[in-house]
Amino acid sequence: MAGSPFADDAVPLELLRTRAFNMRWAQQAPDVIPLTAADPDFPICPAIQEELIRYVRDGVMSYGPPEGLPQFREAVAQWMWSTRRIECSPEAVFATDSAASGMAVVARTFLTSGDEVLVPDPVDFLLQHTVERAGASPVRVPVNPATTAEEFIAGMEARLTPRTRMLWLCNPHNPLGVAYPAKWQQAVAEWAIRHKLRILSDEIWSDIVYAPHHHFSLAALSPEIAGNTITIYGFSKNFALAGLRIGCVLCSDPQWRKEIIATADAESTVYGASVLSQVAVIAALEQGRHWLADFVRHLRGQRDYVLERLARWPGVTVHPPEATYVAFPCIRSLSDDAESFCQYLLEHARVALVPGAPRWFGPGARGHVRICFATSRRILQEAFDRMEAVVRKLAAS
Ligand SMILES: Cc1ncc(COP(=O)(O)O)c(C=O)c1O
Repeated sequence: MAGSPFADDAVPLELLRTRAFNMRWAQQAPDVIPLTAADPDFPICPAIQEELIRYVRDGVMSYGPPEGLPQFREAVAQWMWSTRRIECSPEAVFATDSAASGMAVVARTFLTSGDEVLVPDPVDFLLQHTVERAGASPVRVPVNPATTAEEFIAGMEARLTPRTRMLWLCNPHNPLGVAYPAKWQQAVAEWAIRHKLRILSDEIWSDIVYAPHHHFSLAALSPEIAGNTITIYGFSKNFALAGLRIGCVLCSDPQWRKEIIATADAESTVYGASVLSQVAVIAALEQGRHWLADFVRHLRGQRDYVLERLARWPGVTVHPPEATYVAFPCIRSLSDDAESFCQYLLEHARVALVPGAPRWFGPGARGHVRICFATSRRILQEAFDRMEAVVRKLAAS
């Protein structure tokens, strides 16, 4: 695979050690391999690099429109239709300076102190964090990879109160790696509509899906569901643009959209998405399709390799990721406490993982660890060689 953008020698380790933060290379001791934050170790697609260089060379860096560049909104709308059949007009797209900030602005728009939001447990901490920052309370509904729509609905039903305002979903699910079937989502969305709950669907992972699994966008399921759904989308996972802080909110309801944009304070220029970041996304969506397909192909091999290696950890079980580039094994056979297990691996194997701690994923993550595999095979193999030696000793002790 030499010469491939995902070959072993494509990982620019020296650059990552100075540029990759958020628990990754730049924040670890030099001998530590971080399989932590879900941010690829590979350079971005050449077409994006070239477009950024061209734009910078042109030299004009004026203000963009508050909702996002027309070409950005058009490119996202077309991508939404061609890749997942969301009927999305460019007007329905609002550029934000990350998916995380898209979630935060939706929370601030529709929630107030005392409101409750149903969120899956476990799930990425950003869902609970942005709800809490808006003064509302996340109410956790247990999920595991086998949870049926009926079970999830029963969980929501048991937690519904007069203060429940919204349902927040994450599909594909980080960290469970589940790509929810259309029927599952349809049943859950219809229940939410019956209870007059708006839905936020975080679909930032929707391009990283492994056949035969498929991403079904909630907003593509029916016009009624589309009208009740706000979709969060982003470019950190699919196109490795995390440092450019760029994402978007998709919302077909004009009134809701007006409120979201007003809350975002983009018209005053206090906030807003960087034009350069939007230029990168336009290039990604218009020219990056093959790069993305190759990336997913590489990741699929990595996913299979992770499963093969985890099978050698005594008693450890894992749901094979259907989507995302994280694995979320249950390590209770090795340790009661995921945080001390990760600390032990860091000290003895010099590999950093994310523990299934409530602060990262909610209480439902206990007993698990999250392993990001968006790196080269060589690095992943080295990390597993080191971890396996430690795990074997631990299991024997
Ligand atoms: C489920 C989920 N939503 C949102 C985000 C945030 O993405 P961004 O970098 O665009 O803020 C992440 C990043 O890890 C994520 O996993």
